[in-house]
Amino acid sequence: MPRVAIFPGSFDPMTNAHLDVARRAAQLFDRLVVAVLHNPKKAPLFTVDERVALIEACVAGLGDHVSVAGFDGLTVEFARRQGATFLVRGLRATSDFEAELQMAHTNRKLAPEIDTTFLMTALEFGYLSSTLTKEVWRFGGDVEPMVPGPVAEALARRAPA
Ligand code: PNS
Repeated sequence: MPRVAIFPGSFDPMTNAHLDVARRAAQLFDRLVVAVLHNPKKAPLFTVDERVALIEACVAGLGDHVSVAGFDGLTVEFARRQGATFLVRGLRATSDFEAELQMAHTNRKLAPEIDTTFLMTALEFGYLSSTLTKEVWRFGGDVEPMVPGPVAEALARRAPA
């Protein structure tokens, strides 16, 4: 049975920490789908379509078994539609743990056949978040060390509101 995993998130935008997790998960699973949540409650910087295109550019070198898709609704329902039995999440610090634990248990209750796996974010990217990256960008700071090239270029093309 091929091991299929979903790496779900907002990815607004993808950071080097996300890409590092995607790269490592791509080595662990037979198929990996990076899944971008369409969350109508949030006002994102990039649309889901823009984020999907940016992530596609970022993961281009990871192999044909890695794909990117947008989704609505429950992550586990999207995972089921993809035939996935694993979710992948990155953990940066203990501060992430509580929310991730709650999410993992909720998802397990909803879909006992799907397990959440955690990868520790690489030490050099442990400080990164999409939110702080956007803040640095809004105030004109250098975001190049924080995000993959395609994202840095997209941010450079966009004027902060
Ligand atoms: O990058 P994020 O914002 O930390 O990702 C959070 C995400 C998208 C994984 C989570 O909010 C999610 O799975 N949302 C979809 C709705 C859902 O399935 N909720 C129940 C899981 S607790």
